[in-house]
Amino acid sequence: MNVGFIGLGRMGTGMVGRLLQAGHEVTVYNRTASKARALVDRGARPAATVADACRGDAVLTMLADDGAVEAVVFGEGGLLQSLGTDTIHVSTSTIGVAMSERLAAAHERAGQRFVAAPVFGRPDAAAAGKLFVVAGGAPDVVAACMPLFEAIGQKAIHIDTAPRAANLVKLSGNFLIGSLLEALGEAMALVRKGGVDPHRYFELLTSTLFTGPLFTNYGGLIAHERFEPAGFAAPLGEKDVRLALAAAETLRVPMPAASLVHDRLLTLIARGGERLDWSAIGRLAADDAGLPRSTDT
Ligand SMILES: NC(=O)c1ccc[n+]([C@@H]2O[C@H](COP(=O)([O-])OP(=O)(O)OC[C@H]3O[C@@H](n4cnc5c(N)ncnc54)[C@H](OP(=O)(O)O)[C@@H]3O)[C@@H](O)[C@H]2O)c1
Repeated sequence: MNVGFIGLGRMGTGMVGRLLQAGHEVTVYNRTASKARALVDRGARPAATVADACRGDAVLTMLADDGAVEAVVFGEGGLLQSLGTDTIHVSTSTIGVAMSERLAAAHERAGQRFVAAPVFGRPDAAAAGKLFVVAGGAPDVVAACMPLFEAIGQKAIHIDTAPRAANLVKLSGNFLIGSLLEALGEAMALVRKGGVDPHRYFELLTSTLFTGPLFTNYGGLIAHERFEPAGFAAPLGEKDVRLALAAAETLRVPMPAASLVHDRLLTLIARGGERLDWSAIGRLAADDAGLPRSTDT
């Protein structure tokens, strides 16, 4: 397929690499143009403006947050003004449910086709084509995007005809992961303070009751206190739990655990953890327990 791609951050860069490898023609745009260079060397076509990337079968956006989507889609010379009726907008960013509804309504008014396709998986999974894609949109439009999802992901699930449903599911998933990080951090602080080696504890957990990829990946980061460079930066994690809480408020669903995880992410950021991976909330419990950091010992 012939596609545009807007947003060459940690995730976008890996996803474009996979699209190129699968033989798709990709035109790339990023606010900070220098980030496109390596991909252009690998065969991508550079676009000088958002409008330049809005041609072909589809344009994928992988942007930080609602504010970035606001600027790129609704801004002057943005995607909404530039997209023809033949080009599908595939929004892969993790954004709020209300923003997804706004996008769907605006594209519909403009006679344009829209799919929300947020993804699970970190930058290494993006580069390896191992993401899980959760798609929301009309069945024929989602079907038309399947070759793209197959290039970037190991599995694509069409969850609903409403795009917003995909965004809600993605936010619920990140709330679950955030809760896991907090729980792992507390459990590890407990056993460490009791004199148990955290690495042996991690091996025990991941070879017995908790063998899934989240435990192995995040448990390893917490046990080894390896929070830099961030795969998923703390402010993005805070954004996701805040957006999950916003959706919960709209739907009148109390989520006390989500409020707690949100507070923990705020604590991490307030204490200077802005550039750390969000799994660094798993170290807060150890700090609270007065345990030394691995760098202190
Ligand atoms: N990292 C993960 O593990 C992961 C996993 C799943 C989903 N996600 C979601 O994927 C999205 C991207 O994450 P990421 O880790 O790739 O983030 P990132 O590395 O921080 O990249 C963010 C991208 O958004 C662009 N951007 C930010 N503000 C903008 C604005 N106002 N106007 C235009 N462009 C703007 C950035 O452009 P510049 O280069 O110019 O700053 C960059 O291309 C987020 O919604 C995140 O929640 C991330």
